[in-house]
Amino acid sequence: MKTLVVYYSLDGNTALVAAELGRILGADLLELKFAGGEKRTGPAKYIWGGKMVFSHEKPALKPYTADLSAYDLVVLGGPVWAGSPSPALVSFLSETGMTGKKTAIFCCHGGGKGKALSKLRTLLAGNEIAGQADFRNPVRGGPETWESKAADWANRLSPGTAGHPGTSSRAS
Ligand SMILES: Cc1cc2nc3c(=O)[nH]c(=O)nc-3n(C[C@H](O)[C@H](O)[C@H](O)COP(=O)(O)O)c2cc1C
Repeated sequence: MKTLVVYYSLDGNTALVAAELGRILGADLLELKFAGGEKRTGPAKYIWGGKMVFSHEKPALKPYTADLSAYDLVVLGGPVWAGSPSPALVSFLSETGMTGKKTAIFCCHGGGKGKALSKLRTLLAGNEIAGQADFRNPVRGGPETWESKAADWANRLSPGTAGHPGTSSRAS
């Protein structure tokens, strides 16, 4: 099964999970970036990101190539922002008009995923959603909090492909 993992990550959590899913599933990775750059420091990032969500923005993305027709499964991941899916994913779905695809969705959050995944499901109307998962700040929690969950989830999405304890590429 040919798989594409599309993700946005501001602070590296989603990127970590996306890379592991990519490794286990043998998937291609597509990282989304905002065309206008990012505000990474201090409280400013919450104001900047929160405003984007509350004003229902679909921020412009840096150019990317995504031939979705080449993939059997498209996994979408991003951080929860203000209880909502990442605006980058909202932009991606709006730009590509993705429909009729088998998809799976995941998010990273700090303990309050809110309605991020259910809103993403709504945005994915017209696609099949094969599964969903959420991860609590994997960078901070350390590998033990998310690696086996990611492997189990990947195995459910594509039976037989997932790694098992001991196959991780992370340095121990
Ligand atoms: C603008 C903004 C809004 C956020 N809102 C939430 C939220 O509503 N609930 C939550 O649990 N975490 C929230 N977070 C925390 C992130 O979802 C969390 O740290 C996630 O793991 C970050 O993923 P990333 O490193 O891939 O960007 C927010 C972070 C930012 C920057």
